[in-house]
Amino acid sequence: MQSGIFKLIEKEKRRQKYGLEMIPSENFVSADVLRALGSILTNKYSEGFPGARYYGGNEVIDEIEDEARRLANKLFGAKHAIVQAYSGSPANFAVTLGLVEPGGLVMGLGLSSGGHLTHGAPVSLTGKLFKAINYGVGADGRIDFAEVEQLAKKHKPKLIWAGITAYPFILDFKKFAKIADEVGAYLVADISHISGLVVGGVHPSPVPYVDVVTTTTHKTLRGPRGALILVTKKGLKKDPELASKIEKAIFPGLQGGPHNHQTAAIAVALQEAMSPKFKKYASQVVKNAAVLAKELGTYTENHLLLWDLYDYGFGMGYQAQIVLDLAGITVNKNTVPGEKASPYYPSGIRLGTPALTSRGMKEKEMKIVAGFVKEALEEIRGFDLPQNQETRKDFIKDFKEKMRKNKNLKRTCLQVEKFASRFPVPGIGS
Ligand SMILES: Cc1ncc(COP(=O)(O)O)c(C=O)c1O
Repeated sequence: MQSGIFKLIEKEKRRQKYGLEMIPSENFVSADVLRALGSILTNKYSEGFPGARYYGGNEVIDEIEDEARRLANKLFGAKHAIVQAYSGSPANFAVTLGLVEPGGLVMGLGLSSGGHLTHGAPVSLTGKLFKAINYGVGADGRIDFAEVEQLAKKHKPKLIWAGITAYPFILDFKKFAKIADEVGAYLVADISHISGLVVGGVHPSPVPYVDVVTTTTHKTLRGPRGALILVTKKGLKKDPELASKIEKAIFPGLQGGPHNHQTAAIAVALQEAMSPKFKKYASQVVKNAAVLAKELGTYTENHLLLWDLYDYGFGMGYQAQIVLDLAGITVNKNTVPGEKASPYYPSGIRLGTPALTSRGMKEKEMKIVAGFVKEALEEIRGFDLPQNQETRKDFIKDFKEKMRKNKNLKRTCLQVEKFASRFPVPGIGS
């Protein structure tokens, strides 16, 4: 009997094909990546690392993992690649666990300024098991390096994170390195969001400046869900044990057997990212984001836009996410620097171009997409977030009901579907 799951997969496939995926951390993998991911490699246990496993029968798995490591080192110019982390969060946790004693101090960009949970947020294990301090952004939305320096000198963190999840500007790794070197901290770049741009040459690489790089493989890099940890020449010079400390933190510290099907799919994606076609893709992602930002009246230097919707009213991020969803456009609500509403009902949305660009969309299409977005957002006018916190849940419930019946949104959704269906989805087709 066929599992009902396959019906649901078809339903999700339809959503991906007929909608506009604009969450900047999402993308579409190739048919080859899917083939490796869905392979029999999932059957094998291989705790340990190539050449030193706790199970027999790992000759082929060793070759696969070695190939993934070779490709990762070559692509990023690193010295030692670790490809076993199950995803970005475990990768970041493993790096912290490997380099900092429990109770030691880490420093990262605050969540509300566009940093990631795993850089020491209080709700993350990286903030519970370790002490953490945050730096933030200035009034212009950019990282305040004077604050980074002052905090680093005062608190002497063991590890400094240079990484972003909702930050639309180029990261200056050189400035981070100067500060980290001065205070003797490990510097780790989390390039999860921008690794595809780094490989494509449209964002500076952190490799010459940092000790370790982490990245998810499923965002702009266009691979399967997973992560890379890369130890640099600079890192190994500072601490020759760096790679083995992090490997031990991965296994046996944090994980068991690696997901070999995932490792193989990562290797396929890394090979794809070496092609001139991928360079063109990365550069188009950035060009598309710039056009989209201009059309929406905001600004970006990378693949993502952090759009403060104050023009539409107070605390409009949640409402915007709802109407855009109903119009077939997927984004996520997001806090903006100096957030005045609330983390759950924030003032802005975060959107980006990696997935749309993978479907072959260019500048011309970004103008059309911006038109759809603006058309849908007209419907949130007048639905400002209530100041009284108690009434917010009911307000959203009522808002959702009204929007579900909204004829303008239904019309926009049909137009979006017609438009989106013209662009084949990698791994799914047209
Ligand atoms: C900068 C950054 N680091 C780490 C992660 C965590 O990755 P994962 O969701 O694979 O655990 C993310 C995910 O959004 C991210 O943006």
